[in-house]
Amino acid sequence: MEPKKISLVASSRRDFIESFAYTAAAGCAVVKACTNAVFGALLPEPATGAGYVQLKVENYPELQTNGQTLRLGLCGITGRRPEQRSANTNFFPLLITRSSEGNYWVVDSSCTHNGFLVESQGSVLFCPTHGSRWQHNGTRISGDARVNLKSYKTVFRSDVGSMGELAVEVPRLGYSVILSPVDSAADRLELRFTARQAITYSVMYRESLGEDWLAVQFASSATSTLDQTSFTPTTSDTTARLWVAKPATSGFFAVHTRVTKV
Ligand code: FES
Repeated sequence: MEPKKISLVASSRRDFIESFAYTAAAGCAVVKACTNAVFGALLPEPATGAGYVQLKVENYPELQTNGQTLRLGLCGITGRRPEQRSANTNFFPLLITRSSEGNYWVVDSSCTHNGFLVESQGSVLFCPTHGSRWQHNGTRISGDARVNLKSYKTVFRSDVGSMGELAVEVPRLGYSVILSPVDSAADRLELRFTARQAITYSVMYRESLGEDWLAVQFASSATSTLDQTSFTPTTSDTTARLWVAKPATSGFFAVHTRVTKV
């Protein structure tokens, strides 16, 4: 059975961008169905435990203009109070501001006073709860918050896409993927990885290294229907087990982390 591919393209370009910006593939494996062999998990868990959010600049107008700020969520948020955010308070939205072409500041949106959500307001970052203010690079200006916002490391590659690609290193987001055959279901493979609470994951597939990744449907058990398109753990960090259709020939699987504008 071939992995059933699903379209990444939603109803509009805006939906596409907001729904399907990913971290890097955290792991992949080669499958040769003819020998029934599975070759490894190719990417080991990063030594630092970090994962990389990779953003093509062409997909985000905010990343194309100096002084504009993009707020990017790794988990959903519903309000600015800590208890209104996702249950996973390890991953607050990122505030990404372009300082000049190819250079970006990325800081955490968790206020260093009481952890409420910080937002961009004109030339500063601002916490509406008690009025603290910072520069876009996270340097404190004034208010009850006494320290700078946490900042993230970035890498910019100008040779990706038409406008370059920004990678943001996010602590604790990294994971590796183990792929193994399933004895009880010869037409399936099992993927295992450490999943973080409230983060949404999708399974991707490509037949060869030169092709684009495509999302594929998966199952939540070795025998259930292959009809899932995303997985979001509701409990704290856990070992996720997902099952996919074994390709007829060969291919690569990866698990991607979804991020959205918030
Ligand atoms: S929570 Fe942000 S200034 Fe108090």
